[in-house]
Amino acid sequence: MNTLWKVSADSFVNEKESIMRMGNVYQIANGYMGYRGTLDEFGPDELVGITIAGIFDRVGDSWREPVNAPNGGYTKLTVDNNDVSALTTSVKSHTQNLQLENALFNRETTYEVAGKTIVVNSSRFLSADTPNLGVIKYSLTTDKAAKVMINTGIDCNIWDLNGKHLVNLRLENRDNVLLVHAETNELGKRVAVAEMIDIDFGKCKHEIADNKNLHTIELETEAGTTYTFYKYFAVFTENDTVASVNDAAIKNVTEAKLAGYEKCLNDHNAQWTKKWQYCDVEIDGDDEAQQALRYSIFQLLIVAPVNGSANSIPARALSGQVYKGAIFWDTEMFMFPFFLYTYPEKAVELMRYRIKTLDGARRKAKTEGVGFEGAFYAWESQDDGDDACTYFNIGDPNTGRDLRTHFRDKQVHISGDVAIAMWEYFKLTEDDTLLLEGGAEVILECARFYFSYAYYNTNKNRYEILDVIGPDEYHERVNNNAFTNMVAKATFEIANKTVNYLKHKHPDAFKTLIQKINISGELHRFVEAEKLIYIPEPNNEGVIEQFDAYFKLKDTSIKELKATMIHPNEYLGAGQGLAVPTKVIKQADVVMMLNMFKTRYSKEIKKVNWQYYEPRTEHGSSLSACAYAMVATEFGDLDFAYEYFLKTAKIDIEAKYKVYVGTIFMGGSHPAANGGAWMTAVFGFGGVSADENQVTINPRLYTKWNKLQFNLVYKGDRFTVKITRGAVEILPLTMNKNSHTFIVSGQSVVCAPGNVVFIK
Ligand code: BGC
Repeated sequence: MNTLWKVSADSFVNEKESIMRMGNVYQIANGYMGYRGTLDEFGPDELVGITIAGIFDRVGDSWREPVNAPNGGYTKLTVDNNDVSALTTSVKSHTQNLQLENALFNRETTYEVAGKTIVVNSSRFLSADTPNLGVIKYSLTTDKAAKVMINTGIDCNIWDLNGKHLVNLRLENRDNVLLVHAETNELGKRVAVAEMIDIDFGKCKHEIADNKNLHTIELETEAGTTYTFYKYFAVFTENDTVASVNDAAIKNVTEAKLAGYEKCLNDHNAQWTKKWQYCDVEIDGDDEAQQALRYSIFQLLIVAPVNGSANSIPARALSGQVYKGAIFWDTEMFMFPFFLYTYPEKAVELMRYRIKTLDGARRKAKTEGVGFEGAFYAWESQDDGDDACTYFNIGDPNTGRDLRTHFRDKQVHISGDVAIAMWEYFKLTEDDTLLLEGGAEVILECARFYFSYAYYNTNKNRYEILDVIGPDEYHERVNNNAFTNMVAKATFEIANKTVNYLKHKHPDAFKTLIQKINISGELHRFVEAEKLIYIPEPNNEGVIEQFDAYFKLKDTSIKELKATMIHPNEYLGAGQGLAVPTKVIKQADVVMMLNMFKTRYSKEIKKVNWQYYEPRTEHGSSLSACAYAMVATEFGDLDFAYEYFLKTAKIDIEAKYKVYVGTIFMGGSHPAANGGAWMTAVFGFGGVSADENQVTINPRLYTKWNKLQFNLVYKGDRFTVKITRGAVEILPLTMNKNSHTFIVSGQSVVCAPGNVVFIK
């Protein structure tokens, strides 16, 4: 197999930290659930996790978090009555790999036990065709005849960060289908896992253990013979629209077993072929970048929500319960563009999620601070849209106390991020169903929120946004954060466009909507606010002040600042945080704004601000480097852009990230950075941007690369773009419906269905 399509390891390191990181790197997922890259015989101490998308639970006062399912993929062996496990048995050799073309996890381990060797092989996938289903092929071979006992079934010892989320666990054996079903602790939602095996060893003893969660198979092996069996497991929850989760899970595994492993795998592979056709990016001349970027794309594809689910993607994807499984602005600003430009049917789900949680955003607006109008989206959003972010969200390792943070109540840019994405979807797809099905309502409610949050400064005749946190979380409760003000302005602008569009195109729907939310008397305010909102402009040197009085803060270097830390995991923001009185910022803020609102700022302004803020940026968030990389491509520092592109693209494949912030465990994958890697390749080096009229390509091919090739979808039609040195080739699919205008390095071309366009 081509190494650029897989990640692999050729040893097993029996250390907790390594097992944790491998669990992230080798995870598989199918949008419905994630399965960490742990070994078949592992349990909760090794952080085995099958995290289900969109179902959350709370135990007592602990953090509410996603529910992990009982592990239907569990198998453990004994050889001549000795337990076999990579943790306790002598491992002679171990290899494992993850195939990126179809999200297949494989491991092969040779153990030495009781003077014999046993080779264990397994492959597993979570079906991309049947979202509730997981399938495993498991084989074993001994070098000498041995008495082998296979314990396989559903492990009910679940790894949870904050509690025991499944209660009333019931175990049943229904005609050799193992069934575990339970309810969630908080809301009593039903969850079921069914498991079935397909075993054909000839002579062996197959029983279901007394507690009914395991099959026990006793087998006298012959030396050198390989024994293979198949496992099918299904997870269902009350969020699935089925009459009975138990029956649905049983039916699912029964049908899968009947279809057989090869058929299940073929159906799964067919889906993956489609995904890569839509989404792959090829970099010729740089294997390191190619593999890291492909892995990043893979990470996004495995967690893309199931069609029709109206689920979104959490900040740590489905790699566990870290960050409460919550959805942040990460999704709209960093992941959504990838889906919008390659796989819009998934972008739609991300937006439907925001429509689904609009009431939660309304509740938050009413109850936060002095109480506001409209929709204030949760900083950390779960199934209901209420905010999972606590007011004391970070533990201080020095004192053991929780720090008051204002992420929840002051990071108001989240609502505008949602509105912007909603409008982008419409702009680039021309599909207005989303607007009509709640998207327009979201946009208007977000504008309403900003209007009620804004302060009208009579002396200056302008609207200001006071007391906020911008993307840089180290400076809380600041006034007129340039990024936030721009986002609010964009929201007013989008709200005004939405009103105009609906009024003309869908007058009835418009009327119904404004009546429903009783907003007609407020619409003129959005027009006024769009004009009068204060946007900090560049000073004489061209630098935009991040927020009022930022320039007055102490100019300390990051190195000096860090030298004064007492604890290595100490948080630099909040209250007395070391960065608070200084200009040191956590992540791209002004630069993030320059990247988002590209056309508003000149190359010179981008360069000056980039040079000013970069040395002051800690890049303490995985969202930071890609923003700096993209802006650097615009003013031509491709070497820097490349360095930060690689840093972003390699974050999850290398898994060298920090695992604790304060006292909070943060290990898990980084889908925002994965999206940032794709954006840097396509928007940055590819120079792609699009609006309602055209697609623009201003290639900035990195010196090391011979070719950058990617796929795009624009207004429902698909294109492959090949950028080589000095030339761009656009290949519209023959089945495209319309011709579209592309502006390539200033040259306008029309791309008709099936007509390849070559521009030199
Ligand atoms: C960043 C936020 C981000 C969150 C989740 C924080 O460290 O500062 O911008 O949304 O992580 O990724």
